Amino acid sequence: MFKRSCNTLLAVIMLSLCTGCTNPIHLPGTSSVQEPAPEPAPVPHTVPPEPEKPADNPAQDSLPPQHASSAGTQSDSGEGKNPPADSEETGGEEAVTVVADPDSITVLLNKHFALPKDYRPQDLIYPAVPFLDPKKNEKHLMRKEAAQALEKLFAAAKKDGITLMGVSAFRSYTTQEVLFNYYVKQDGEEKARTYSAVPGTSEHQTGLAIDVSGTDRKCAAADCFAGTKEAKWLEQHAAEYGFIIRYPLGKEAITGYQYEPWHIRYVGKKIAEEIMGQKITLEEYLHQVPVSK
Ligand code: DAL
Ligand code: ZN
Repeated sequence: MFKRSCNTLLAVIMLSLCTGCTNPIHLPGTSSVQEPAPEPAPVPHTVPPEPEKPADNPAQDSLPPQHASSAGTQSDSGEGKNPPADSEETGGEEAVTVVADPDSITVLLNKHFALPKDYRPQDLIYPAVPFLDPKKNEKHLMRKEAAQALEKLFAAAKKDGITLMGVSAFRSYTTQEVLFNYYVKQDGEEKARTYSAVPGTSEHQTGLAIDVSGTDRKCAAADCFAGTKEAKWLEQHAAEYGFIIRYPLGKEAITGYQYEPWHIRYVGKKIAEEIMGQKITLEEYLHQVPVSK
């Protein structure tokens, strides 16, 4: 298991971004959470299977009719399907397609699809849920529909005796850039890309995703969250509130990321129930497989 300490990143972040942050970050090679930091690190798990090489960039308008239609009508938001996207290079290892409708509740982001660099959702609000770092912070923000669904999710968990805590929700392109660059420095780019999204491709920039933990701070966005009662509850109930476990165990070759039982993504209840019920990924639901590392 890796743990991360945050001396280097903390210095960078504290200087550049996030003077109010108090969240712990886990760095490989240390065993204690020592200092406040702006983001909990997604911690690598066991080395996943090598993700498959991608087919040609799939186009969003190539969705099969049933999914094009369902993606447009099943979202609780009533938003349309992901529209055709414009292709452009975004500076990563591969050509990445910039999505044309970043506001879609079903927007697909992965190694192939990115948000416009300056994208920032217009309807970000603070969900009324507890965060590990209680100080109000941009990373608590979520889009309104997702935030309201999250409140219901947390309340339902509470009723079942499960206390969930928010860890990290919205991240701007710049915040993700700082994080990703840190991980590249720490672990090298190839490894970093298995657990951290290249800036512009993180679901955290959509305001539809959030990392969730229990009250055990040391397992926030860390592999020890897997198998906890909170992780099990999320796996079982997240879809009832419109969320999916976005990076499931065993689907690394499709999502391109290691298992993240703490990263939930809002897609709307009907789609979430279909995805979680069938134990598939958003890529599979949208027929956009495979992606690459
Ligand atoms: N950890 C996920 C993949 C992210 O960086 O958005
Ligand atoms: Zn996440």
